[in-house]
Amino acid sequence: TGYQYIITEKKGKVGLITLNRPKALNALSDGLIGEVNQALKLYQEDKEVGSIVITGSEKAFAAGADIKEMEKNSFSDAYMKDMLSQWHDMTKVRKPIIAAVNGYALGGGCELAMMCDMIVAGDKAIFGQPEIKLGTIPGCGGTQRLIRAIGKSKAMELILTGNNLNAVDAERFGLVSRVVPAEDLLSETLKLAEKIASHSQITVSLCKEAVNSAYELSLQEGIKFERRLFHSTFATLDQKEGMNAFVEKRNPTWNNK
Ligand code: HXC
Repeated sequence: TGYQYIITEKKGKVGLITLNRPKALNALSDGLIGEVNQALKLYQEDKEVGSIVITGSEKAFAAGADIKEMEKNSFSDAYMKDMLSQWHDMTKVRKPIIAAVNGYALGGGCELAMMCDMIVAGDKAIFGQPEIKLGTIPGCGGTQRLIRAIGKSKAMELILTGNNLNAVDAERFGLVSRVVPAEDLLSETLKLAEKIASHSQITVSLCKEAVNSAYELSLQEGIKFERRLFHSTFATLDQKEGMNAFVEKRNPTWNNK
């Protein structure tokens, strides 16, 4: 498919993206992020794909933004090209994205995982925001998303010390939805993704949109927004099909409309 830094393959209804820059532990260069965005766009447009999984290697999900590519920038370079802004393109994808993390998810790697809708970790996964050790700060949502995931005190400790978080603690603190043996990571995550993809695509995307709005809205506004989206499901064929199938005691066949 012409990619240099990633491998894409469809597994049933799941679109898989494997970060594949082993010599640099999947360091997230502009080229790699550009390819991830391109692959996500194609999966978003592909009607056969119901959910997406992003994974890395056993040693590294991604060891951060590419330090060698970044280091020479001046402030004006970074500001004028709005460095890292292209990373946020992936948050516009409507289909759910699951990060399957084995090994290191550091700096931008941890931030990439947190931009996904959920994280499944292998038992040897290591998370952290070590930017402070490089004289910089998390630049792709780390200071904002980590606090929402694990709370202020723990987020502050990790970001200010640069210490790592192991998989067990990551689950205990709520950063990851589950921990599985490293060798089962991909198969378990694909199972989860396949289950999500077995539901109506439009309903899945409405759910994702409603849950994500909780990041941005007050409780009252969020509940109102949720209710409006709930009302809108009654304009879909899939609500009619889903409820009718229940009443007729059969399995639904989704139209994705
Ligand atoms: C560029 C990297 C890299 C990175 C590893 N490599 N991480 N290159 N950017 N982030 C390269 C190494 O230079 C080395 O290349 C090769 O990958 C293998 O790495 P080693 O260090 O030899 O492996 P190991 O000893 O096993 O140590 C693994 C590690 C370490 C603990 C993960 O690589 C490490 O600390 N990496 C940096 C982690 C980090 O600081 N991440 C945050 C980046 S800043 P050669 O050519 O020598 O073989 C960031 C800013 C975010 O993410 C801003 C928002 C995105």
